[in-house]
Amino acid sequence: MTIIAASDSAIAAAAALLREGRLVAFPTETVYGLGADATDDRAVAAIFAAKNRPTFNPLIAHVADIAAAAELVTLDERARRLAAAFWPGPLTLVLPRAAGSTVSLLASAGLDSIAVRVPAHPVALALLRATGRPVAAPSANPSGGVSPTTAAHVEEGLGERLAMILDGGACRVGVESTVLDLTTATPTLLRPGGVTREQLEILLGPIAVAQGHDEDGPRSPGMLASHYAPALPVRLDAQAALPGEALLGFGPLPQATLNLSPTADLAEAAANLFALLRALDRAEFSGIAVAPIPHHGLGLAINDRLRRAAVPRSSA
Ligand code: TXA
Ligand code: MG
Repeated sequence: MTIIAASDSAIAAAAALLREGRLVAFPTETVYGLGADATDDRAVAAIFAAKNRPTFNPLIAHVADIAAAAELVTLDERARRLAAAFWPGPLTLVLPRAAGSTVSLLASAGLDSIAVRVPAHPVALALLRATGRPVAAPSANPSGGVSPTTAAHVEEGLGERLAMILDGGACRVGVESTVLDLTTATPTLLRPGGVTREQLEILLGPIAVAQGHDEDGPRSPGMLASHYAPALPVRLDAQAALPGEALLGFGPLPQATLNLSPTADLAEAAANLFALLRALDRAEFSGIAVAPIPHHGLGLAINDRLRRAAVPRSSA
């Protein structure tokens, strides 16, 4: 049985599983989260595989308190004011990645920002304290499904994919957290949620509202522009590098400059994707050639991300 009532010993066991890189679903006040160690690329890749998400959307790093958030992101004065008012609670803040932040680049989809939140649920907070690491967690449903508000919902959708489902009863809020981007001069509401725009404006003054934000991630062209893309041109389905190019390999490929997975393991490739793209994005190369990636399983999300990275950008 995967569903376990959230006792102290069950929470300790769940924290141990997270630290081993396994997936644990846990209750928050909004919806159940599909949790993994946010500092572990492989564990984060397992989230995308379990949800069967065709894209890598950036995930929220859940932490137990403001001090833990401050190790991951740079909190400005606005962020501290909001955190003091609404944390623990259904507010997610997108902030600049701090130097030395341990959050996996896959969890933040290669962005220079990280979304952080302190959930207002005793089980979630106890789990985060016991784990002692940030926990990446999207809603615990298969991609395209409805967000789960009970442990039974989670089991229906993802049951056999999870090491454990911590049962903390039904979620109080039932809709996801509000996502507010504080990397812009004017704070921008990316997703409406448990904390209202009016509540935010009392503390911040007028805020902007992003248009066309998809439930499952930033997909509108304006939002895509904020996604990480290498400065160098990216060429896909390359069998070999042209003169000057770096070659990002997949599978056995001795001539690769770097290799996403020499053993052709898609989960390993997903875990390495953003870190290796960044590592090759250097002026000594004229471009990045990428070997073909099979188009099944996590390969769909990898290819989606690579196609976006390969879209020609104007130098204007
Ligand atoms: O209530 C919630 O927020 C639940 C519980 C489990 O905490 N989690 C949740 O996660 O809804 P998810 O992955 O379904 O939604 C996260 C949202 C997405 O819209 C994503 O695009 C946005 O946060 N997001 C995460 N990191 C971001 C970043 N660095 N920049 C912009 N948007 C980001
Ligand atoms: Mg969701």
